[in-house]
Order: sequence, then C-alpha cells, then structure tokens
Amino acid sequence: MSVVVFPFKREDPDVLLKNVRIAVAHPRVRGVVCIGADEDACFRAAAAAAPEIARATGKQVEVIVQERIGSKRPGKGDGMNTGLRYFLTKTDHKRIHFYDADILSFSEEWITKAEDAADQGYHVVRHYFPRASTDAMITWFITRTGFALLWPRSELPRIEQPLGGELLLTRPVAEALVADPRVQAQSDWGIDTLYTFATVAGGFSMYETYLGVGKLHKLYGTLTDLRTMLIECFSALQSLAEEKVPEGTVHHVEYQGPVSETVKTKIGYNFDGTLALLAQGWTERQLALLDLFPARVRDGLACCRSFPQLGFMDDEAWYDTYRVLLREFQADDPDWQELLFKLWIVRVLGYTVTVALRGYDVAMHHLHGMVERYARRAARAP
Ligand code: LAC
Repeated sequence: MSVVVFPFKREDPDVLLKNVRIAVAHPRVRGVVCIGADEDACFRAAAAAAPEIARATGKQVEVIVQERIGSKRPGKGDGMNTGLRYFLTKTDHKRIHFYDADILSFSEEWITKAEDAADQGYHVVRHYFPRASTDAMITWFITRTGFALLWPRSELPRIEQPLGGELLLTRPVAEALVADPRVQAQSDWGIDTLYTFATVAGGFSMYETYLGVGKLHKLYGTLTDLRTMLIECFSALQSLAEEKVPEGTVHHVEYQGPVSETVKTKIGYNFDGTLALLAQGWTERQLALLDLFPARVRDGLACCRSFPQLGFMDDEAWYDTYRVLLREFQADDPDWQELLFKLWIVRVLGYTVTVALRGYDVAMHHLHGMVERYARRAARAP
C-alpha cells in the first residue's frame, strides 16, 4: 500500500483538492499528505477540506507544514524530505508517490502506472511526458548536460526528465535518501537533482513511464522566472562533481507515444523579453570573469552588451563553457550568478533560433543526440 504526497506553495486550492480526491480514491492509496511551504491561503483551504475527505473515504488525509531540514534556501527540498520522513516514521506502507500540486491533468492513471511498474520490482518509478521544444531548458542544458559531462557512462544522462516531481519510491529508497546527508541538506530547487542522482548512485533500479497527456502546467514569461531554479540546479550538480556513480544500473524507459499538436507548437518562454536581458545587469567584474572562458564565448557574450549575438553558443561551445562553470562557478557570488544566467540565456536563445525553429521532431532528435555526443566526448577525455 502507498502514501501520496503533494508538496505545494501558493497553488490553486481547487486544483490541489481535486488531485487529493483522485489520489485518495485509488485502491492502492492508504493516505494522502499535502505539505505546504507555509500556512498560505492554499494551505488553509486544504486544511479546512481535509477532515471531510478523510471521513468520506475512511483514509488518512493530512495537511502539514514542511519542516526545516536542509541548509540551503528553505524550499521544495524541505517539503519533499518532510514527506519522506512522514512516510518512514508515521506509516509502514511500502511505497511513496510524489506529485506536483499544480498538475491539471492528474488522474488515477498516474498512480496506477507507477504502481504497475513497482509491482514488476523496480525500486524507483519516474513519470515523463512530452514537453515543448523550448520548454525544459534547465533539464536539457543544465541537468542532462551536467550528467553527461560528469557521469557519461552511468544511466544519469539518459533519464528523460531528471527534474520531474512525479515519482514513486519504494521504502528502501526512501530510507537511503533520508540517511544521505547530501540529500537532506538540499532544501532548495536542487532537490530533484539530488533525488535523481542519489537513486542512481545508490544502485537502485528505475522505470520511466510515459504519460502522453502530460502535465499541462503553465509556461514561463521571460527566463527570469527560472533564474533561481537555474542557479540552484547548477550548484546542486556542481556540489556532486567529485562523486562516483556506478555504471550499468537497471533503467528501462517506456517508449513514447504520439505527441499532440498543442505541445509541438507551444512556445516555452517569451523570446523578446529574454533577449533584452542580455544587455542588462553587467558589471566590470562579470567582464573580467569572462576571460576564464574560451575566446569565442568571451567575445560573443561581451558583444551582447550592445548588440545580441546568439550563433556562437553552439553545442561545442556550451560543452566548453559548462566545463569552466563546473570548475569556477561560485554559487554565493552575485556576479557569477548573473554570468551563469546570461551564458545559459545565450545558449537557450541560440538553440531556439538554430534548432527549435526547424520543428519539434528535429529539435527533440537534436537534444537527445547532443546529450549522447557530450557523454561520448566526456567518456573519452574525462
Ligand atoms: C525544466 C524546467 C525548469 O527545465 O522547466 O525542466
């Protein structure tokens, strides 16, 4: 039997409660826990509705505030780790599911598919779904790229959505994550990276199920919306750079289905607004730090102060840039934060106008190929 956890912060309570009702009605589910970042309006609405849902179903439905567990910015990591601790100390169930609270397309199928894969003996089940070719820009250019550079022979670069918040963990995996100080410290957006990393590093088997309906979450404005997440996801990866990960862990990916026109034609972010960011927020020190990078990256980005250029940041240049960032980036330094942000923006914009504009299928093929090329290059010359 299973517990379902929804971590949330300032969500629409109607969406959250709809998802709670779907989860609690599932025959495999014994309890649902909503974990709020704080006691916001959504928290109060969920807490008010929970007793009635519990009474009507005879199952446990709780709404709790996340504990302060980690040492980074208090965020989603504390929420997820609170869920793991609840699962291990308050229940003796075998499995825990996590779902982001804002999924508009949540259905019992998400739970059933995860349970089916766990019934086959997999320790970890992750959901993946189609995303627009200009969405998932941290996933592709930070997380999957970093996994390919750092652990090219492991399964990490081949995980479809390593930042996904929809997953099932069996009890031994939850125990390993709670016992891992690196995971418990990661209270911020880096938590998804740490869970993905630690499950593969721990040798657990993984199945990825495909949910064609996708998540239908809202897309972003300018890429500034993702700035904090970008910095926290990159820092999390950088902090793991010296760690070892075994090769050849069991990892099966369910084949994807046809992708809807809605996803194929969706634009992931505001292009004009993001382009304008390249000319803003420069300091002398950022210019000096650019000297650490290959000449065409240094000169290309420096030009963007007055006139945007994008073509220089191709796959090869990004690989070289990423290597420098892994070595030099300082997470607490505002100039480094801004420089990482600008380098990533150039990468995303450049990819958008040279690859994504050629169409969804070309773009997806290119991104998967890019990760494989990175892994091969890193495996040759670590
Ligand atoms: C991603 C999120 C941030 O890159 O959309 O996966």
